[in-house]
Amino acid sequence: MPSEANVAKAGLEGVVAAQSAISDVNGDEGRLIYRGFDIHDLAEHASFEEVVHLLWHGNLPTRSELALLSGLLNRESRLSSEIQALIRAIPKDANPMDMLRTVVSALALHDPEAGDTSREANLRKAIRLTAKFPTIVTTFQRVRYGLEPVEPSDGLSIAGNFLFTLRGEVPDDVATRTMDVAFVLHADHELNASTFAARVTAATLSDMYSAVVSAIGTLKGPLHGGANEGVIKNLLEIGSLENVEPWVLKALAGKKKIMGFGHRVYHTEDPRATHLREMSRQLGERTGEKKWYEMSRKMEEVIMREKHLNPNVDFYSASTYYAMGIPPDLFTPIFACSRISGWTAHVLEQFDHNRLIRPRAEYVGPRGLTYTPIGERV
Ligand code: COA
Repeated sequence: MPSEANVAKAGLEGVVAAQSAISDVNGDEGRLIYRGFDIHDLAEHASFEEVVHLLWHGNLPTRSELALLSGLLNRESRLSSEIQALIRAIPKDANPMDMLRTVVSALALHDPEAGDTSREANLRKAIRLTAKFPTIVTTFQRVRYGLEPVEPSDGLSIAGNFLFTLRGEVPDDVATRTMDVAFVLHADHELNASTFAARVTAATLSDMYSAVVSAIGTLKGPLHGGANEGVIKNLLEIGSLENVEPWVLKALAGKKKIMGFGHRVYHTEDPRATHLREMSRQLGERTGEKKWYEMSRKMEEVIMREKHLNPNVDFYSASTYYAMGIPPDLFTPIFACSRISGWTAHVLEQFDHNRLIRPRAEYVGPRGLTYTPIGERV
């Protein structure tokens, strides 16, 4: 009989597996802080570049620190001809998260500092990765649609350049700020599955690229970042406001997990969803296409009534991005374009106080069996 300490906790629920000073989730109060700052405060006032500095360095940047970081991020956002050629060679129908995982893995092959795990080299790699993620995603999007890639512009932020390199035209302030806030909201979330995967990889003293590749593969899953694509698929399948309630009731009766609802840690409203709901509403009004927001509200109402489940970050990000004309299979890569800042912050922190992460399993298989020669097995 195993002692209580040796009994597995399914899904590691409630297990504290690391100390971190980067972000904290209070699931009972629905609060999220990055380095002590409330997410509501940051969503209202901070740019993504400021948040990136905050996550990596622990403080909001001064004017000159911000100018320095923004300049470096802008300069590193361009892709080499080898990486552009690789993106062109990827099948046009590839899943964009698989594409991202592959291209990020290839970035390591072209980075002479890939194996240098010093803090200085890791910070430079964090800058390269955070800068290049959006360009990789938008380059693939353009190439697969038969369009030429667009080079990032010098004067634009990460959010601005994401939209510029996606569409080939300079976005207006509303679109840029919407993207910027979405990036701020998704930047970090304590020991979520992909961040944990990154830290496990880093803790073996593997390199930052390997840690980030582990994280991308983990974010892809529909129980994690992949949920936002699932949300829009559901909304498109439902198709109209009057279909929402019967669709939800049928899905719940069939014990189906409805994407964009529920959370391991939040037992109340996810504070990121509060902002995304409002962003979705405003965009719906702006474009005159309120249907997706209204259907989302109805879904939220029925699921709250039936299951007491709250929407999570992925629910309203789906209708927000859809209203911006972004293809659904780019929703999870957009999540990655933001979360790369948190992943790299955690890898830096892991390296600063490293100890191999190696838990135990509660063995539930047989014991005491003896080898049977192959000819005697049935
Ligand atoms: N739709 C329907 N029922 C859900 C649900 C959902 N999205 N999320 C949780 N539940 C129900 C479960 O069926 C279970 O009910 P039961 O006790 O009657 O069996 C209960 O709520 C607990 O769910 P469980 O899957 O054990 O919670 P978890 O902590 O392991 O999982 C998630 C958390 C996020 C993986 C889960 O809520 C989920 O799958 N959500 C949909 C995917 C998603 O949006 N992921 C993004 C997370 S940010």
